[in-house]
Amino acid sequence: MSWGNPKLDSCGLPVDGPPHTNSRRRDKIFLMPEKSLTPDEKLQQEFNRWAAAGEGPKMENHHLDITAKTIRRMNLRPGERVLDLGCGSGWATRLLARLVGEGPDGFGQVVGLDVADEMIREARAASKDFDNVLYVWGSAQQIPWEENFFDKVLSVESFYYYADQDRALMELFRVMAPQGRLFILINLYKDNPYSLQWVDMLKVPVHVRSAAEYVELLKKHAFENVEACRIPDDTPTPDDYKTKSFHSLDDLRAFKREGALLLMATKPDLRTPAPGYTIY
Ligand SMILES: C[S@@+](CC[C@H](N)C(=O)[O-])C[C@H]1O[C@@H](n2cnc3c(N)ncnc32)[C@H](O)[C@@H]1O
Repeated sequence: MSWGNPKLDSCGLPVDGPPHTNSRRRDKIFLMPEKSLTPDEKLQQEFNRWAAAGEGPKMENHHLDITAKTIRRMNLRPGERVLDLGCGSGWATRLLARLVGEGPDGFGQVVGLDVADEMIREARAASKDFDNVLYVWGSAQQIPWEENFFDKVLSVESFYYYADQDRALMELFRVMAPQGRLFILINLYKDNPYSLQWVDMLKVPVHVRSAAEYVELLKKHAFENVEACRIPDDTPTPDDYKTKSFHSLDDLRAFKREGALLLMATKPDLRTPAPGYTIY
């Protein structure tokens, strides 16, 4: 004798036992369908984990030398509005804030933006003495800010994580002021072979482009005066330094010598277009 196919409930469990059994209904187990994370949610999760592990402030040790050299090239003046994109725990945001503070041309402001809310929380906690800094939780893919606002943008070691770099550049173009200047510092790129050791260690996908490819990308997005240069990291590496990111200390030293890639570009002045151009 066959019982036929059991009648199943929405969880795939038999609703009733065979007819002759004491048909005590089994407890239903409701399984939530697994939600797949968006690329930004994955980044948020990963960098919140970094924050919990205390990596936020530690990154200052790794990025200070190359960032200080970049900030010198930014030619910041009091009164300017600056965006620190992918600000992490905000140490660079605070450096920028000191440079644009109060001056004859007004009161400069710095906005630090990061996709990881725990990084933003740390940055806010460490910046209580600053009245010209604002930290915003959000993504480079959709910058929560108005058009034509920032005179300068700095992004340190963040750009290669953005799932859609084209979209991030469109957003940067939108929020930058006409003739605003963009400074993107990247430690992981094709032309520094030592940096490629990290790709497999990272828990999120990254873009690996060459300097030439990045220059083309920026030009495609209508940025002008696009330039790329190398910024070597002159921080000494002690012989007893423990590295988890490189195969050896020699590789780490070579990585620093090769240097980070600095991309620089200008948003065109759309208010006073070049002769012969009409902006509608
Ligand atoms: C390697 S950390 C560098 C942080 C900081 N600039 C520093 O040098 O200490 C990369 C940072 O980029 C942020 N990030 C990654 N993807 C992002 C996105 N789509 N939008 C905004 N921030 C992002 C991460 O949350 C993280 O804080």
